[in-house]
Order: sequence, then C-alpha cells, then structure tokens
Amino acid sequence: MSKKFYITTAIDYANGSPHLGHAYEKVLTDIVARFRRLMGDEVKFLTGLDEHGQKVQMSAQKEGVPPIDVCDRLAIEFQGLCQALHISNDDYIRTTQQRHKDVVQDILQKLYDKGEIYKADYNGFYSVRQEQFVTEKEKVDGHWPAIYGDVVEVTETNYFFKLAQYQDWLIRTIKTNEQMIYPRFRSADVLQFLKEPLNDLCISRPKERLEWGIELPFDSDFVTYVWFDALTNYITAAGYGTDEFDKHWPADYHVIGKDILVPPHAVYWPIMLKALGIELPKHFLVHGWWLSSGAKMSKSTGEVVNPLDLIEQFGADAFRYFVTREMNVGQDSEFSLDLFMSRYNSDLANDLGNLVSRLLNMGGRYTDGKVPTAEVEEAPEKEIKALWSATEQELIPLFEDFQFHKALDRIFSFVSGINRYAETRAPWKLAKSEAPEDQAALRTSLATMAEALRLAVVLLTPVMPQISDKIRGLVGADNFDSLEGQLQWGNTLEGKALGEKTILFPRPEPK
Ligand code: ME8
Ligand code: MG
Repeated sequence: MSKKFYITTAIDYANGSPHLGHAYEKVLTDIVARFRRLMGDEVKFLTGLDEHGQKVQMSAQKEGVPPIDVCDRLAIEFQGLCQALHISNDDYIRTTQQRHKDVVQDILQKLYDKGEIYKADYNGFYSVRQEQFVTEKEKVDGHWPAIYGDVVEVTETNYFFKLAQYQDWLIRTIKTNEQMIYPRFRSADVLQFLKEPLNDLCISRPKERLEWGIELPFDSDFVTYVWFDALTNYITAAGYGTDEFDKHWPADYHVIGKDILVPPHAVYWPIMLKALGIELPKHFLVHGWWLSSGAKMSKSTGEVVNPLDLIEQFGADAFRYFVTREMNVGQDSEFSLDLFMSRYNSDLANDLGNLVSRLLNMGGRYTDGKVPTAEVEEAPEKEIKALWSATEQELIPLFEDFQFHKALDRIFSFVSGINRYAETRAPWKLAKSEAPEDQAALRTSLATMAEALRLAVVLLTPVMPQISDKIRGLVGADNFDSLEGQLQWGNTLEGKALGEKTILFPRPEPK
C-alpha cells in the first residue's frame, strides 16, 4: 500500500497581490509534493487563501465593495499564480467557504463546552496593522517598532483560549520531538519563546470593530479572530468531522515562513489540537525570506517582485529553477534581477539548453535523427558513467533532506560533465572520418549524451516539470510516475527518434 503524505502551505492573506515570497513557498511545497509522488506516496497537497480580518474589511470599505468581492478577486490572482507556476495542489481552500466555517464553529463550540474558552475584559495596546494586541515588552527604546504601525489603547470584552495550562506539555513535546521542526535550529526559537509564561490567547473580536470573520457559535456579537480561523484550514481540508479525516491527518508537513512559526504554528496550533484531542502535525518545514536590499519583501513595505512578470518573460521552470537554486531552505536569500539573469544565461541557456540543441543538431546530421547504439566503452564513457553514479547516490538523500539547492548543483555539475564529455569525444570531428572505429565512437558519443541527458532530468522533474518532460520527449524517453529504475544507466533510448532542434531557453529581448 502506498503511503499517505499530506502537505500544506501557509494560506496567503487576501490583503494584497502575490509576490515572490508567496510564489517561492508554493514552488518549495510543490517540489516536495512532486518528489513524494515519484517516491510512490499518495500525496494530498493543500494551499489556499486566508480571507478574513481587519485589513480585508478595511480595503473593501475603501473601495466601497463587499469584502467578499475583494477576496474573490484575490483568489483569482493567487490561483492564477499557482497555475502559472504549475503548482500541483489537489485542493485550494478559501476560509470563506462553508466547509471551513462549519469546522471553525464546530471546534469553537467543542472547546467552549469543555471550558477551554472563557470571556473576560481586556485592556491593552492594539496594533492595527498586525491585528494583534501588543505589550510594553515589545517596545524598542520606548517606541513601538515600525512593523506595528499605529498602536492604540483599547478596552474590550473578548473570548480567550486557555493556552497557559499547556505550556509545560508543549515544552516537553518540542524537546522530545527533535524532528518536528526543520531546520532544527528553529526549535530553539520556540523554546526561547516558551521560557516566558504564556498568556491566554484572545480569539475574538467584537463585531462592532470587525464584522468580516466567522461568528462565534456561542455568542453572535463576536467573530473569531485571525489565527483561530486561519490555522484550522489544515484540518478543514483534511475532512475534519468526516471519515476522510483519519486518512489524511496528521499532516506530514506544514510548510511556512519563519515569521509565522512562533507563536502561531509552534504554539497556538499544537495547543489547539491538543485541547481538541487531535494528533499534532508531524513536521514543520520552515523557510526563510526573500530579501530585497536586505529587507523582507512584503506587501507592507512595497518592495516586491511580481513573480508573474518573471514567469511571463522566462517561463515557469526558469523561475522555479532560480528560487530553488538560490535558496538554502531555512535561510534567507537576496533577490536580484542580475543574479536571476546570470543563472538563466549560464546554467539554463548555456549549459543545459546548448547541450540539448547540440545533441539534436548532431543527431539530425549524423545518425538519421535517431539515438544510435553505444558500441564502445572507453575512458570518456567510463568517466561520465562514474560521474553519474557519484551524482545519483547523492540525489535522493539531498531531496529527502530538503537540500534542493545542492541537488541542483549536483545535477548541473553532471550536465557540465556531459558537455565536457562532448568536447572530449568531439563527435563533429569524428563525423569527418570514414574509419569504422571513428564511426563507432561517433554513434557511441551521441547515444551516451542522450542517455546522460535522460538521467540528468529525472530528478530535475520535481523542480522543472515542463522542461524535463520536454527534454525527455526530445531524446525519445518516456515520462514516468515512479522513480523505480529511472536512475539506472541503461541503453533505453536506442533507436528512439530525436526531436527537432529547438531553443529551450531563448535569450530575452532587451527591454
Ligand atoms: O502569514 N519571503 O499570510 P502571508 C519568503 N495568512 N516567504 C514569505 C515572504 C518573503 N519575503 N513574505 C511572506 C500569512 N512569505 C497568514 C498565514 S497560515 C495558517 C496563515 C510567506 O500572505 C510567509 O512566511 O503574510 C507565509 O508562510 C506565506 O508567505 C504567507 O504569508
Ligand atoms: Mg505576512
């Protein structure tokens, strides 16, 4: 029986257009999902949109339209991004969907009935931009940090979820469960946060201040506030409350950015689940930020790269390659167009693109447009096969450990190796000789290049699915659903038709 694998992204806030950070998280999750499918797992891949909250209500008011109109428009934009990037999600959740409202209300009622939620007066400072209460402790040199925007003092009655009683349990759980957070060093951030006593979590907003939310089932004057609503999406989509649920839950990975690990995902979410008697997700995969001139790219700062522009100009796979090659998962990475262009030109257009067109060109001229038979095995063939076997051994462990930048480095070193092989064999010189041994070497060299290319793109597939399929088509290889047998050097392509010469990575028009 195949193994179930449930993976999720964060759900994006419907308060602005998608940017590079959103695109990256989807690509990263998609690579894991595609890789797990190739490994034979039965994957459920969820992404979606986080639609409630103050900011959405405010921008709708400004436009003079109902908030759902704003959300519908952004849902189209975000889903358009997923399509443009060839994201292979199986479900797209929107927190305004009835299935989600039902689950949120169901769990709120359960927790209320169990006495885990209580009503109290709260007096405090509130950041409108962050939609959260903040405390004096968060002041820096006597001022609220700029990320909070305007901070106002308010008193209001609200509902609270009892977090504090689970603090020791959570500390133990995180300490004993070393594999829970990837990269591991982030566990330390969580434990650091848990050194201070936990405050109970305010989970409601009075409707007079915020209408755009899911109504509390036990008090219609209130809606539930952002995290209780948003986090629950992961169980809604897994079919909480139905027979489906046990098939999918617990999630294998929640993929999130480092800004939403502590406290929401590593503190609120495990405690919510514990209080409900639901198993915890197995892992969090926590990625870093794309930076622009050293600062996090975000809607609030306006320093954003529109991924759709890059995709339109260079193709989804070039974009996917770049973000995966340049990001060491868990760290931050600086985005620059220069770097993007240099990767595009050197790795994709020169190394990979030229190799493919070289092979097709020679195949058309020397071997009748077919993959010939490899007849000899001499030093150059031995060398490229040895390079493949060293590369091959590393790839699956690197993928399993989310070291995608290294995996791509190894794959492209192998591609360079194939180019070196071609230089050494120089089939264009061999073609000028009538000698039988030169003709045999010519056939061998083209067959070897074709087989090596087939192998090079096997594990490029989760990162660059379209280009990999296309290259397989061009060298006469079949597509596949499982890695089984795919990584072995063989003579699988003998006699197969090579495609017409083509330019995989066109040079961009100067803008
Ligand atoms: O946080 N680089 O939504 P969001 C990399 N709705 N990743 C980035 C990024 C950047 N510059 N900017 C944002 C929310 N992200 C909530 C989540 S989940 C139950 C609710 C990542 O639109 C960010 O870290 O602000 C998060 O994982 C995702 O994009 C959505 O961010
Ligand atoms: Mg954010």
